[in-house]
Amino acid sequence: MEPLPEVTDPRVIDGRKIALDIEAGVKEEVEIFVKEHGVKPALATILVGEHPPSKLYVKLKHWAAKRVGIISEDHKFPQETKQEEIIWLIETLNRRPEIHGILVQLPLPKHIDEREVMMKISPVKDVDGFNPLNMGKMFIGSEGFVPCTPKGIIRALCEFNIDPKGMEVVVVGHSNVVGKPAAIMLLNRNATVKICHVFSKDLKSQTQKADILIVATGVRGLVKADMVKEGAIVFDVGITWQDEKVYGDVDFEDVLPKVKLISPVPGGVGPMTIAILMEHTLQAAKIQSE
Ligand code: GUN
Repeated sequence: MEPLPEVTDPRVIDGRKIALDIEAGVKEEVEIFVKEHGVKPALATILVGEHPPSKLYVKLKHWAAKRVGIISEDHKFPQETKQEEIIWLIETLNRRPEIHGILVQLPLPKHIDEREVMMKISPVKDVDGFNPLNMGKMFIGSEGFVPCTPKGIIRALCEFNIDPKGMEVVVVGHSNVVGKPAAIMLLNRNATVKICHVFSKDLKSQTQKADILIVATGVRGLVKADMVKEGAIVFDVGITWQDEKVYGDVDFEDVLPKVKLISPVPGGVGPMTIAILMEHTLQAAKIQSE
């Protein structure tokens, strides 16, 4: 991957800088944790199949773990692996006291039921926040482990002292990984939230009303300037890989002149997601050491 240019435009959210700050805090706390408990926080990742972006994301997660002093264990499986085998590993990891966090990289192959798998991760080791108990807690406003990408968005808003209370938020995309949890977490912070998706009619008329627009569809360049309100805050969460490069869901150059703030792709929510995962792994280690 080629290095990203430095962010100098004040409208552009520098996700890498926010991530580095989070990582620096985690690293310090990990050192304290190790001194107090004599063990290092540890994360186990599970990757099934050969999906190249997933392989890269998992590698980036292991690199981040190394940077902050977290042990990481890499479990890779071929595409045709049976669901039972993955569940067997999760149950083994649940029982191992020296493993504090478990992450199953999504998407999983079609023959594996993601929901069944997520249900098996112990809620206290569920650093991705995909277990239904943690999802349910988020739903009732008692956020524990929540999905890392929406949490990164909330963190970025905090960095810029933006309180979403009363703001019009439009989320485009209704996945369990980003769209739905982002909507609920912003609702928990008293924003007025609308979720649009592939079946929504007249997307433009909805997105034009957004003070905060979160786009997570995987459709390259879906959002153009005419779909964005003047002075909006835009989070581009989409990722499309083409010719070894990544593209977001937002036509960045087109939209930039209209926005107050925008998170770019790459260098926006991606690095923040990974930093939050590190924070969660430390948090999981603390909970399990109480
Ligand atoms: N695939 C895309 N985003 C994520 C994520 O945040 N966590 C996991 N486990 N898989 C993903």
